[in-house]
Amino acid sequence: MNHQGTSQDRQSETADFILDNLHVVAVPSAPQIRLYAAHPGSGLWRLWPDDEGDDPPPPYWAYQWAGGLVLARHFLERPDTVRGRRVLDLGAGSGLVGIAAAMAGASAVLAAEVDRNGVAAIGLNATLNGVDVTAVSGDLTGGPAPEVDIVVVGDLFYDADLAERVTAFLDRCVAAGVEVLVGDPGRAHLPHARLQLVAEYAVADVGTGHAATTKPSAVFSFG
Ligand SMILES: C[S@@+](CC[C@H](N)C(=O)[O-])C[C@H]1O[C@@H](n2cnc3c(N)ncnc32)[C@H](O)[C@@H]1O
Repeated sequence: MNHQGTSQDRQSETADFILDNLHVVAVPSAPQIRLYAAHPGSGLWRLWPDDEGDDPPPPYWAYQWAGGLVLARHFLERPDTVRGRRVLDLGAGSGLVGIAAAMAGASAVLAAEVDRNGVAAIGLNATLNGVDVTAVSGDLTGGPAPEVDIVVVGDLFYDADLAERVTAFLDRCVAAGVEVLVGDPGRAHLPHARLQLVAEYAVADVGTGHAATTKPSAVFSFG
């Protein structure tokens, strides 16, 4: 790929790459949603230029994760959770959670993602599913509570530093009167003491290579 040019050029190159090299799959446990997904021949490494210095972020956006799958299933089974509400999907990856919220009738959906390739994927995945999701590029966790009714967080407690920043951000959201739901299969840094179980579903843990097995994962209310 030619990686010269602006970040917008790069996003459009990424979008072309996704359309050419990823497969559209129906989401396990929410097959009404389809996503562009990686497969063994995708060659995702080609998306990160050698001259960029830092190690590329893992392409989490090209996979589905148990935490997102459980939230998506929850919104489709209980659309009242998000219907008519403004939603922020934090750490959106593919956009799965936000897309499910939009399908369930959310009035507006923001999907925040730090990986620019993920931002491109969110736009393509939203279009593929015929819903409006606004992708926001960057890390919102250092900022104030967003102007939304509910923040939804799928599978974001896999790293200690990140979990600390996310928890502090969610604290500010709760203090501002914003509801927070977390979907998670029990990752290492899940803040158990802050969570109350809302629902449990058995979903595939595709992102960790265990697509064939299901794992009980939960939707929690954070408070
Ligand atoms: C394990 S994936 C989960 C993706 C999606 N929520 C799901 O459940 O399918 C975590 C995602 O969060 C993104 N991420 C990590 N830190 C973030 C931050 N501070 N703000 C926004 N996105 C972040 C990563 O790039 C990655 O795409």
